[in-house]
Amino acid sequence: MKSSMAPGILITCLAGIGAAAVLRVLYWASQFTLYHFWRPSKPLAAYKRASDDSYALITGASAGIGLSIARNIVRQGFGVVLLGHLPDELESAAKSLNSPLVRTLVVNARTATPEELETAVESISDLNISILVNNVGGFPMADPPLRPLSTLSTAEVDAYVDLNARFMARLTNLVLPLLSSSSTREKHERSLILNISSAGRVGMPWIVMYSATKAFNYAFSMGLSRELEDDSTTAHIDCLAVTLGEVQSQANVMAEGAVTAERFGGYVVGGIDGAVKRGWREVRPYWGHDLALGLADRVLPDGMLTHFAREELRLKKERWDAIMAKRR
Ligand SMILES: NC(=O)c1ccc[n+]([C@@H]2O[C@H](COP(=O)([O-])OP(=O)(O)OC[C@H]3O[C@@H](n4cnc5c(N)ncnc54)[C@H](OP(=O)(O)O)[C@@H]3O)[C@@H](O)[C@H]2O)c1
Repeated sequence: MKSSMAPGILITCLAGIGAAAVLRVLYWASQFTLYHFWRPSKPLAAYKRASDDSYALITGASAGIGLSIARNIVRQGFGVVLLGHLPDELESAAKSLNSPLVRTLVVNARTATPEELETAVESISDLNISILVNNVGGFPMADPPLRPLSTLSTAEVDAYVDLNARFMARLTNLVLPLLSSSSTREKHERSLILNISSAGRVGMPWIVMYSATKAFNYAFSMGLSRELEDDSTTAHIDCLAVTLGEVQSQANVMAEGAVTAERFGGYVVGGIDGAVKRGWREVRPYWGHDLALGLADRVLPDGMLTHFAREELRLKKERWDAIMAKRR
């Protein structure tokens, strides 16, 4: 009697596990579809101040993803402060936005002293800033961008930390009081911080410093999000880490076939409301990146994604090495 029941129980258990796995995939697929393909027309409405023009401060905003995010924020009726290091580039970026509510802030994110940064933030304290986008980042050294850590000078190692990590931490520290003023809290208005990280934050070869600082952006954002929601004086500030794969931009000229920076900014802005409402701390705003990273998390055996990413980087490094050989 016992031996004839055992296979029945086993089959029921296996069927239960199978059904649970199918339900999990269906849930993920429905969330994926709803999040990416059903986006609100006013994804930043929660961050608009009723009494005054609302502004977003965007770093690294004279080109690439930063400028595209700025353009999409302007379309939502916000003013913007574009932060960058080259005055001429900033001015032409500002003109291209075709809005009366644009200011520029010339700050070198790699070399700015604490005093320079304090003065810069003070100069915009008359504005009602409700959004901070920590976007500036990249490869602050001469080409090639992909090379072994041992070939970097110590100054280059520091430059990665300065540009990609130290600056966004200092700036957020200084801007937080603007996002959490007492009048904002009294009126139950919300504020937003976006921290641009990268899929490379898992730690990749030949871009060791870049990927390590992108892990910093991610951990900084996750920690800050948890801290802000725990305190009634800051719980109105939403904080999201933005994870992305390849985007075509001036910094990533080898991303053939990838989404362009111009389009990517629209995905970022369009995806904010859905992510905040779902209680996420991290968002992958572009469906192509989310699909690839989501499948990798759920389907590929451990380590397979890292293997593919490493091979892709190896090819890029070889292409850069060939370019550098021609330049010599
Ligand atoms: N593109 C990708 O595939 C990709 C993938 C993952 C993550 N990301 C992240 O996305 C963010 C934006 O990347 P992107 O591809 O748009 O880069 P990008 O095209 O090089 O744009 C970077 C922006 O930052 C400005 N900038 C550079 N150095 C600066 C400095 N020292 N001080 C102030 N501003 C400075 C640049 O101004 P100038 O033009 O005047 O130098 C430009 O406006 C970065 O954090 C990057 O790590 C990008």
